[in-house]
Amino acid sequence: MSRPVRLIVCINRRLGIGQASCAGSVSLDLISKIEAMIAADQLEVPVIRRECLGRCETGPVMRIAPGGPFFTEIDAARLVDIVTQHKAFIESHHAE
Ligand code: FES
Repeated sequence: MSRPVRLIVCINRRLGIGQASCAGSVSLDLISKIEAMIAADQLEVPVIRRECLGRCETGPVMRIAPGGPFFTEIDAARLVDIVTQHKAFIESHHAE
């Protein structure tokens, strides 16, 4: 049985001086926006908050799972593309 599709979003805030982190780069605001977009499209996929996806210097970071693409340096303008790719991933995942 395949694992359900989900969107994983880093919400980590590294506390070291000068350390880049996703929460330091507005990921919390992006989560609210993408959750609203997913709900508006009636996609039944969970948005999972995680502490660090290991790409801190290129945050904010999201990933479609299982096995989907990483998105880095996300801003609000890229959310439409991420939701579009998420839909395509869901369709291909269900076709397997
Ligand atoms: S802080 Fe987001 S990937 Fe590490």
